Amino acid sequence: MATEPGNVNEFRELARQVLPKMYYDFYTGGAEDQHTLKQNVDAFRRIMLRPRVIVDASKIDMSTTVLGYKISAPIMIAPTARHQLAHPEGEVATARAAAACNTIMVLSNMSTCTVEDVASSCNAIRFFQLYVLKRRDISAQIVHRVENNGYKAIVLTVDTPRLGRREADIKNRMVAPQLRNFEGLLSTEVHTDKGSNLEALVKGMYDTSLSWEDIGWLKSITNLPILIKGVLTHEDARKAVEVGVAGIVVSNHGARQLDYTPATISVLEEVVHAVGGRVPVLFDGGVRRGTDVFKALALGAQAVLVGRPVVYGLAANGERGVRRVIEMLKDEFELTMALSGCPSVKDITRSHVTTEFDKP
Ligand code: FNR
Repeated sequence: MATEPGNVNEFRELARQVLPKMYYDFYTGGAEDQHTLKQNVDAFRRIMLRPRVIVDASKIDMSTTVLGYKISAPIMIAPTARHQLAHPEGEVATARAAAACNTIMVLSNMSTCTVEDVASSCNAIRFFQLYVLKRRDISAQIVHRVENNGYKAIVLTVDTPRLGRREADIKNRMVAPQLRNFEGLLSTEVHTDKGSNLEALVKGMYDTSLSWEDIGWLKSITNLPILIKGVLTHEDARKAVEVGVAGIVVSNHGARQLDYTPATISVLEEVVHAVGGRVPVLFDGGVRRGTDVFKALALGAQAVLVGRPVVYGLAANGERGVRRVIEMLKDEFELTMALSGCPSVKDITRSHVTTEFDKP
């Protein structure tokens, strides 16, 4: 590596230099006009901090728990697909970095390394992100493999009945490789004359009929706690709690699905209020700085998940790159806590931020 990046945005630039354009575009891109993509990041700029002074900042404790698992800081790894396009070691490298940083990795259902490979490569606390497939029997098999391999929770992604329109992938004719989790079960090498095969893959594989009743089906086949990822409204947050989920992830899929959904940070509080402390609320979308982590916690998130920055680190320097990205965010977050007068995460409250979302 030429010069060591000093922040997440510099890692992004490094990833741009090392990745083929097609893969860089796949990782960075969003849906259609990419309005929400920009908003996810920019909305954090409309939140200002209200630091308290003369607070003992000699010891800062960033640790927290998620579903009872203690992690070193409220910064987790979001599920992102196909890590071997970024680095030959793929999700195994990412998981090792998660273990080294003492945080939780959520493995994507669309990973390039298998559930088993990732589990045997390290002792990171792992959750598994699930898409319910038309072939429910295959989803059930995967859930059982996940359970047998020591994953601690299922994160059910619910914002993808169809794939969002990602124009860069279509232009680049982005074609995804066979995914090893499905080897011997079904082919993920879909052929199409439409440019990218990603849309056809999703259309062919995913269960587009998924409804709230199906959470009951998922609960019937696993004892693992189930989190729902992709909630953006108080209406859905209430339904999720009613059907008995163990947690909610406020997410717009990194702005890759429906453009013109609000920036996730601008709807976090709405969801937190609806949930009323009954289950933990996690958050993702646009986290690029330690101050962003702090803001999400102040608005009620238990922890944040980080998507693209992790992939930038992986592309730039494999396991070490992912570690650096998480460490940088942790360092920035720790400094933010110290300068805001919050020695522990429970000290971070709503009164430590002021938002401009509601102003005209
Ligand atoms: C994703 N995301 C995602 N989500 C999911 O539930 N399953 C998946 O397989 C993927 N795959 C995926 C690939 C890539 C390249 C990206 C960028 C994102 C969404 C992801 O979990 C998360 O919601 C966002 O990435 C969060 O936004 P940031 O941190 O990337 O801004």
